[in-house]
Formats: sequence, structure tokens, C-alpha cells
Amino acid sequence: MTSVQLDDRVLALARELRDDMQTFLNEYRFGMREIETKLEILRDDFEHQHAYNPIEHLSSRVKSVDSIIAKIERKAITPTFPAIRASITDIAGVRVTCSFVSDAYRLFELLCGQDDVRILEVEDYIASPKANGYKSLHAVVEVPVFLPRGRVHVPVEVQFRTIAMDFWASLEHKIYYKYDKRVPQHLLDELRDAAHTAADLDKKMERLHREIRGTDEAETSTPAPAPREITGGGATHIA
Ligand code: GTP
Ligand code: MG
Repeated sequence: MTSVQLDDRVLALARELRDDMQTFLNEYRFGMREIETKLEILRDDFEHQHAYNPIEHLSSRVKSVDSIIAKIERKAITPTFPAIRASITDIAGVRVTCSFVSDAYRLFELLCGQDDVRILEVEDYIASPKANGYKSLHAVVEVPVFLPRGRVHVPVEVQFRTIAMDFWASLEHKIYYKYDKRVPQHLLDELRDAAHTAADLDKKMERLHREIRGTDEAETSTPAPAPREITGGGATHIA
């Protein structure tokens, strides 16, 4: 094995690139934290006001450098920070898992109705599921982050789904990777079937939930934020 001697200029360049990458990714980490805090505040206030928690689980991640590079190659993006910033909107991702479909929409409205949150794109795969059965409500939102050097606007992809949708998506994801994206037809059929079963369960659980809470729907409902357009499937550019 040959060892490569790096001269000082190359090392300085490598360090600069590493620092620029950290700065770039930190902005996404901060934007993600802003969105997480907003969701936690909504959850905590909801719990306090209504003794009811509309969020089962909150998770988040910043895309790894490897995944960002893979996406740059897949989408043939110019490898500059401004081009990556403009073309990859899911570098910061937050997932909101709710018990009920109505809560997923409610959280979406409550987050996206906030003054400092700008909706860039909505993909409603609950209203219009993907062909494989995938369901979730996706929103790419932009949130301001205040840094010592000024304000930056950071895009964050937020996925709202139910526990049943999440269960389905995580199994589908595992199968997809186990078969290296070439999933046998019978499994694809069974997955589609399982997606219907999950949707039926969602409907049944929601009905039961409403029945248990009686005519108390007003108890969990919150004033609707200003209406915004949500269209099914495909990308919707609203902003
Ligand atoms: P990419 O972000 O490049 O994947 O393209 P896109 O923006 O068209 O993707 P889309 O908005 O449809 O999906 C974004 C994310 O939603 C993915 O990274 C997954 O987390 C999730 N997702 C979308 N479709 C599926 C699916 O069929 N199965 C599973 N398990 N997850 C999905
Ligand atoms: Mg997308």
C-alpha cells in the first residue's frame, strides 16, 4: 500500500472543507431543533389543556454526508453548497407519529399555520397513497434560525403519519433493502394488502376513539389556523 504525503496547502483545504460542511449541516440541525421545539410545545400545551397527547412519537435526523453525496450523484446536482441547499430539501427531517389520522392533519395545520413557518411543498400521501400503499403527509417547511451572523431560513421535511402507517413503512423499508429494491411480486401484493389493513385499522381506532370521548370532539379540537391548500399526491408548491 502506498502512503500519500499531503502537503500543507492540501491539508488546509481539507480542513476548510470540513469546517464549511459542519457550518452547512449545523444550520439544518438548528432548523430541525426549531421545528422539534414547536411540535413539543404543541404537544405539551395540548396535554395540559385537554389531558390528551396527540403525538405518540417524535423523531428526527440530519442526513448523513454519505446520503447527501448519494443524492447529489442520483439527482446530478452541482456540488456547491448553494445548489445543494436549493435542490435537497430533506437534509433535515422530522417525523411526527400520531395515534389517529385526524391528529396527523391537526398537527400539520397547527405547525404550518404558524407565522414564522413557510410551507414550501406539501405531498399528501394519506389522501393519495403511493402505488405500493405508502401513506404519510409530507410537508417541506422553511423556518428562520437566528445566528450571530444573521438570520438564515432552513428547510425541514416534516412527515406526519399514524402508528399504523409507520409500522407499515418501516417493514416495507426493511423488505425493500433486504431484496435490494427487487422485491418479489407476491411480497409487493401482500404489502399493498397490509397497507389496506392498516388503513382499516386507522379508521376503526379513530371511530372507537371518538366514541370513547363521546361528543367531546370539541374538547380535542383547536381553532383551525388560516386554511391552506393541500392537494393530494405529487408536489404542491404553495409558497
Ligand atoms: P427523495 O427524497 O429523493 O426520496 O424523493 P422524493 O422527495 O420524491 O421522495 P418522497 O417525498 O416521496 O419521500 C421522501 C421520504 O418519504 C423518504 O425518504 C421516506 O422517508 C418516505 N417514503 C416515501 N415513499 C416511501 C415508501 O414507498 N416507503 C417507505 N417506507 N418510505 C417512503
Ligand atoms: Mg419529497
